[in-house]
Amino acid sequence: MIAGTGAGDDEALQPARQPANGNVERRVDRLLRQMTVDEKLQQVQLLSDGQITDDEAKKGVGGVFSLTDPAKIDHFQKVAVEQSRLHIPILFAYDTIHGYRTTFPVPLAEAASFDPTVAADDFRISARESAAVGIKQIYAPMVDVSHEPRWGRIVEGSGEDPYLGSVMAATKVRAAQGNDYSAADKVVTSVKHFVGYGAAEGGRDYNTTDISERRLRDLFLPPFKAALDAGSDTVMCSFNSLNGSPGCANAHTMTDILKGEWGFDGFVESDYTAVSELRACPPKNPDEGPCGHGVAADGPSAGALALNAGTDSEMVSTHIRDNGKQLLSTGQISMRRLDDAVRRILRVKFRAGLFEHPYADQTKIAENTLTAADRADARKAVGKSVVLLRNEGGVLPLDASKSVAVIGPLGDDQHDMLGPWWGQGKDEDAVSLLTGVKAQAPATTFAEGCKMVDADLYKPENECPDDSGFAAAVSAAEGADQVVVALGEVRGQGGEAEVRSKIDLPGQQLALLKAIKATGKKVTVVLFNSRPLDLTDVVANSDAIIEAWFPGIEAGNGLADVLFGTVNPGGKLPVSFPRSVGQVPIYYNHEPTGRPCDTTQKYNSRYRDIDSCDPLYEFGYGLSYTTFKFANLSLSSKTLRGRGDSVKVSVDVTNTGSRAGDEVAQLYIHDPVASLSQPVRRLRGFQRVSLDAGQTKTVTFRLDASDIGFYDDGGKFIVEPGSIDVYAGDSSKADLTDTFTVTGRSRG
Ligand code: BGC
Repeated sequence: MIAGTGAGDDEALQPARQPANGNVERRVDRLLRQMTVDEKLQQVQLLSDGQITDDEAKKGVGGVFSLTDPAKIDHFQKVAVEQSRLHIPILFAYDTIHGYRTTFPVPLAEAASFDPTVAADDFRISARESAAVGIKQIYAPMVDVSHEPRWGRIVEGSGEDPYLGSVMAATKVRAAQGNDYSAADKVVTSVKHFVGYGAAEGGRDYNTTDISERRLRDLFLPPFKAALDAGSDTVMCSFNSLNGSPGCANAHTMTDILKGEWGFDGFVESDYTAVSELRACPPKNPDEGPCGHGVAADGPSAGALALNAGTDSEMVSTHIRDNGKQLLSTGQISMRRLDDAVRRILRVKFRAGLFEHPYADQTKIAENTLTAADRADARKAVGKSVVLLRNEGGVLPLDASKSVAVIGPLGDDQHDMLGPWWGQGKDEDAVSLLTGVKAQAPATTFAEGCKMVDADLYKPENECPDDSGFAAAVSAAEGADQVVVALGEVRGQGGEAEVRSKIDLPGQQLALLKAIKATGKKVTVVLFNSRPLDLTDVVANSDAIIEAWFPGIEAGNGLADVLFGTVNPGGKLPVSFPRSVGQVPIYYNHEPTGRPCDTTQKYNSRYRDIDSCDPLYEFGYGLSYTTFKFANLSLSSKTLRGRGDSVKVSVDVTNTGSRAGDEVAQLYIHDPVASLSQPVRRLRGFQRVSLDAGQTKTVTFRLDASDIGFYDDGGKFIVEPGSIDVYAGDSSKADLTDTFTVTGRSRG
């Protein structure tokens, strides 16, 4: 169950699905009856900021995305509402991924908090700031599960686990939409990318995926389902082909599962030119956008394929609109399906209150944007999102009354702190690490060591190219009591289309770290990055490591809170950190194999040249400045009768150290004997608890049939009789264990 995560007590987190509203349906039908075919075709068109014109608005375009100038949004809305024949407002959309102006930590960092309130704060503020300028739909949350650190977009999601991803997805939707997204400070969410996009081969963006039905349902679909159950009324279909069928041409996922099985009554928009990309290359008409997949011969066929498969709205390319009349006359699409697509779009517009309130109140933008309270929440989010990976000899926290040298190319960097998909975040709003540290420890010096420059294409000279600045960095380290080295990636090395074949520190950064370590000083590394990195050499050359991801506008302040110990870190890894790129993919919830890894033997599933079966840091791992102990795992019953029954699992968590801190209690299960081989561990509950020194809290989880069952390749959810092992503890290696028996069987 998704309850039992500690997420249930915040009002923003309550279920929010909009009830089917008879009045809305009547209004949709009435409007639809008045629409001409041209108007219907224009309603399924979604244009970019560069494409929208008065003429398009007058003709009644359905949606516009990436336009952020409030005056322009207002202008085009006026044209649509006042000058289009049926006065249908435009739905304005934007990629508000981790903040509109108040940039929060990147989504992977928010997942690392294992604290839904972090995601809720982000999406509550994001929605308000977006809605303030007239944006009523956000292309978020991005919920693609991924095992691929090479893939730059891993930063946009919640990592490798479908359960954690589901909790974060549902939380974000509830926080952005509230109970009624027509409210002035709410927006409709679009959950993306449907589906399997995170499984791109080799991590190469937009690449092929081939996923069995059971893996699709066990691993990739759950966060989408959770987002829809939380009320998300729009979905974006993905670029990638899945088992040969591209996301926006996939009738199985969009029509059978999403709209059929799940009863989704909102709309699906295509990703950027994804409909055009269905065409074979070279395209018959190169002016009509990119080509690629080769599942449609030309533009008209691409439009028909997408619409018939379940795409309701076409982003950027215009195949459905431009060829719609011809496709209707030849019977390649039906009026019934076109009406269905239009009905879905209008339904969302009515639910969004656009017919009653098409305009945002421009006088309220300033008071709703980047307030002091928002900044305070963003700062808190940084403290909750960082993961303490290493703290040898308790080098952290640092002493603010002593001198500090901040060293490294990312040490006084505002630009990169915002991370990929920074929305309308401004570099000048961001607090660099140096600024944050100096504010708390005035005797702080800085040496850059080398430069990392953010650029679209790879140029070695942009990535810490040489050691000419190392001597100054070494002398800064020698002159200070405490040393913090800020290393990692620039923001342009992650995000869309940014794939790395190596996942170590770019350029000469490791050499810089080695030079600093050679001073004999205790070295704390602060890492900024979009993806799990290979940290094997960083571990060997540091005393402490803080994984800071990209923390957003309050980066420096939030990190200084952690470095000096006013905030005790409690984040955990939402994705495994491999020992080397060759170990990828490596994830905690893998299946057992017939030859489980054993590095001391031949003929099993091991790497000959890696002396471990594990990643460097496992899923769920993270340290604190205090220590915790788990004890007294207990089950309310030793049997679970099947559907309708549940077992309560409780465990005591004690802070055994001398300062207050947060621990994330994690609950995993394993089904040791099943008709289909089951993952060695599956996360089924977590709760982040704050404990004073010496304090104990009992954490309780509830497991039911939905937690223990799994899908077969016919798409059926099965619960089988037999034993289920339960594990509780502080990471995916948790070792407190007990077992209960399932006595019932079900399939359906
Ligand atoms: C991305 C989407 C994004 C869209 C609109 C695409 O390239 O894949 O995630 O929402 O652009 O900006």
